[in-house]
Amino acid sequence: MKVMAICAGRKNGNGEILAKEALSAAQAAGAEVEMINLFDYNILPCTGCEGCTMQMGEVAMDPTKQYRGCVLKDKDDVDALIAEMHTCNGVIFSVPTYDLTPSSLYTRFAQRFLAYELSFLLEIGVVKENPNTVAGLIAVGGSMHDWQSLALESLQATMFTMSLTVVDRFMSQRVGRPGNVLLHQDQLDRAHQMGESIVKAIQTPVEERTCGGELGTNTETGRPWLVIDPENGHIRDRCVDKARAEHLNEIIQTRIDFFQRQGEVKPLQKKYREMKFPTFVIER
Ligand SMILES: Cc1cc2nc3c(=O)[nH]c(=O)nc-3n(C[C@H](O)[C@H](O)[C@H](O)COP(=O)(O)O)c2cc1C
Repeated sequence: MKVMAICAGRKNGNGEILAKEALSAAQAAGAEVEMINLFDYNILPCTGCEGCTMQMGEVAMDPTKQYRGCVLKDKDDVDALIAEMHTCNGVIFSVPTYDLTPSSLYTRFAQRFLAYELSFLLEIGVVKENPNTVAGLIAVGGSMHDWQSLALESLQATMFTMSLTVVDRFMSQRVGRPGNVLLHQDQLDRAHQMGESIVKAIQTPVEERTCGGELGTNTETGRPWLVIDPENGHIRDRCVDKARAEHLNEIIQTRIDFFQRQGEVKPLQKKYREMKFPTFVIER
């Protein structure tokens, strides 16, 4: 049983701290764990060539043809990262929220998943079996839910391509400067719980897996599903400058609190900095 955390935030930032907390719980529950930060890899953007789906179409019509994969396959680290993901039974994505959505470093990576679209590859026989990998999502933001409205949903939308079943997700709120989450024990506990729920889901037969967190389970199919929050987007009108300027007050207040409590933060930062997990190194 192997669980990987994929972070897209700052080194020793809030996303890494939450991922480490989740991994420590997964490790304690018996999983082999590893952690990567996407900043450490070369990730080119999808060129939009559709070479992958063009090839998939050709193989579908003529099974003697070969699927060669993404045109960028040998040009960057994405193919190796995805191969590594495929060695895992569970993946935890810990991604900062920028402009209400997952950061561009993450979306650049995730949009490359198209060349690995599991349902298509199963359909044309390139992949023989669905590995039924489960996922946990952490959307990290400096603000409150109404300034992260699209974060979890957008993150979850990137799971479809690789058929990653989201079994837990949560939003880490009001954490601005790196280490700010250390002042939110409830969020650290929530990350810990995610590590445990990922392992529990891996150990549960596929058809019986449900979803924890605020996400819930489709009552008709009994399966985890994507819920799009209908309420939160309406709390603030972000197209009005004055309403948006209020967001600066929020940022300032979060920051003042963080700097005033450095005495509490510093020893905890040291603890998480020293908490190390194996990572994935690409030989160049
Ligand atoms: C360019 C940029 C845009 C941001 N936009 C948002 C936002 O829309 N909503 C929010 O809650 N936080 C926003 N933030 C704050 C980050 O999400 C926050 O600092 C988070 O803790 C970063 O995670 P990390 O510590 O793992 O890097 C933004 C930060 C940056 C740099």
